[in-house]
Amino acid sequence: MTKLRLIALLLALVPAIGLAAGAGPKLETSGTDLSDKASLQRGAGLFMNYCAGCHALSMHRYSRIASDLGLSPELVEQNLMPAHAKIGENINTGINTGDGNAWFGKAAPDLSLIARAKLGGPDYVYSYIKGFYIDESRPLGWNNTVFPGASMPNVLWDLQGIQRPVYDQGADGQSHITRLELSSPGRLSPEEFDRVARDISAFLQYVAEPAALKRESVGVWVLLFLAFFTFIAYLLKLEYWRDVH
Ligand code: HEC
Repeated sequence: MTKLRLIALLLALVPAIGLAAGAGPKLETSGTDLSDKASLQRGAGLFMNYCAGCHALSMHRYSRIASDLGLSPELVEQNLMPAHAKIGENINTGINTGDGNAWFGKAAPDLSLIARAKLGGPDYVYSYIKGFYIDESRPLGWNNTVFPGASMPNVLWDLQGIQRPVYDQGADGQSHITRLELSSPGRLSPEEFDRVARDISAFLQYVAEPAALKRESVGVWVLLFLAFFTFIAYLLKLEYWRDVH
């Protein structure tokens, strides 16, 4: 009887779990590819130039980026690191939490694990980067469709251009943002900006799980070994059955 009750309770919970998984903003597909080294290298450069001023990747070292992404330590030192940092150090930011709170109302979080912490992973980061629009009611003049009320300014606006929201009346009688419209173009075309967002998302996906790079390259060899071993086993079977007949 108690067992039956437990099962009934679990069944009753299933729709609730489904709803929870379906909640959250609609995300765009990022199309990141961890085997694309060039994309990861571009992403690292973009991150260090546009994001590392506020966001740390404190679980990651500069030297690890060099070896994982096939960059020489000199290149990383000259192009991806602030002047005072050492190649063996963790990636920290110059802004401390107190300043972050004072300047943005919220300290910029460490992004070491962001691509794993968020539902959607790299798709979340990609959609967030592309989701900024102008909103005079916000303290810094920016809002975000994926994270409404985010206190981060759109740091890539000169590349992307300025987006304005297009509203539509929903079934509940309230107006909702249906899409964002480019009201003044940036230095890049929309396709080029998509690539920028994809490269940064891929880089953060790699940072959140550096072992994934190795796993993918080892995986190919494991599959080849299994295929080869199956073939050997087949030959062995032929050999055994020859004697049986
Ligand atoms: C001027 C400082 C600043 C810069 C530069 C900056 N950010 Fe942020 N970022 C913030 C702040 C502040 C928050 C916290 C927002 C909040 O919680 O309201 C944030 C939050 C985030 C989040 C978490 C969003 C969430 O849902 O919790 C992501 C992802 C992010 N930033 C990505 C980036 C990327 C990628 C770049 C570089 C293109 C970047 N940021 C550059 C200040 C900055």
